[in-house]
Amino acid sequence: MKIQTVGIVGAGQMGRGIAQVCAASGLSVLLNDIGETAMRSGINGISSALDRLASKGKISESDATAIGARITGSVTLQDLATCDLVIEAATEDLRVKQDILARLDSIVRQDTIVATNTSSVSVTKLGAALANPERFTGLHFFNPVPVMELVEVIRGIQTSDETFDTVIAFAKRIGKSPIDVKNSPGFVVNRILVPMINEAIFALHERLAGAEEIDAGMKLGAGHPMGPLALADLIGLDTLLAIMDVLCRDFNDPKYRPAPLLRELVDAGHLGRKSGRGFYAY
Ligand code: 3HC
Repeated sequence: MKIQTVGIVGAGQMGRGIAQVCAASGLSVLLNDIGETAMRSGINGISSALDRLASKGKISESDATAIGARITGSVTLQDLATCDLVIEAATEDLRVKQDILARLDSIVRQDTIVATNTSSVSVTKLGAALANPERFTGLHFFNPVPVMELVEVIRGIQTSDETFDTVIAFAKRIGKSPIDVKNSPGFVVNRILVPMINEAIFALHERLAGAEEIDAGMKLGAGHPMGPLALADLIGLDTLLAIMDVLCRDFNDPKYRPAPLLRELVDAGHLGRKSGRGFYAY
């Protein structure tokens, strides 16, 4: 199937990044969120990102305008009825995702592919919210979406080969490098990356070193592009906690115990860049 129109549910940092990348590849995009404010904030964020790219000479002014024009805001899921592919990029909450997927199931065409950008929830479990889960897959992007090359394409137990192949081809078409991943908590990258960040939070809590020192250690000593605590602020501490909770519960293994300081910062509303404060102030 040729994918021409993509619906994205959730206009947060991942959803807006996915929308930008799809529109930059010539696709028509519907960016949906539950309220006008959230949807507008997503559309405005994309405009600013496109303006920045144009001011740096990475794209022309006319391309920036054309990319922006391919993205339409929506606050009603029903608007996604005509999409060839719908990507759910809502908050990392099982119930919220299941509810969106169940509602989408009765809105989109039978041949529409439905994908989730979940960072850790079981693709098989989410697929069960659909009447025909063979058309469902995980399609996991990385932050910042316009910059990071990887997507993980995750097969749930019910995902058909046809769906999987179409999504792999779609990922390549939007300029990403897909890897084929089996459904498992955290998939591949978050299974490895997020416990590393969690360990850095334990190290900070145990006062092995300050935040800047820990980050400098991993940048200068291990060649990471940014330190784990700065990366935590970029990803969002609430998202990291949700991933650690899934790893700990689904593997039933205490080695994935979330650092208490991570939970405490989330409880305080210190979520990282998006709330203006995390391990650093913004
Ligand atoms: N949005 C769009 N573009 C951005 C950006 C953003 N938020 N942040 C940086 N960029 C662009 C810059 O414009 C610049 O582009 P240019 O080279 O074309 O001018 C380029 O990225 C490099 O940026 P900077 O020079 O400002 O800074 P750095 O060289 O330090 O790069 C970084 C910034 C790309 C964020 C880099 O530090 C990095 O790769 N960090 C690691 C990111 C990472 O690990 N992401 C994965 C997180 S895990 C995840 O998302 C999964 C989820 O499920 C939790």
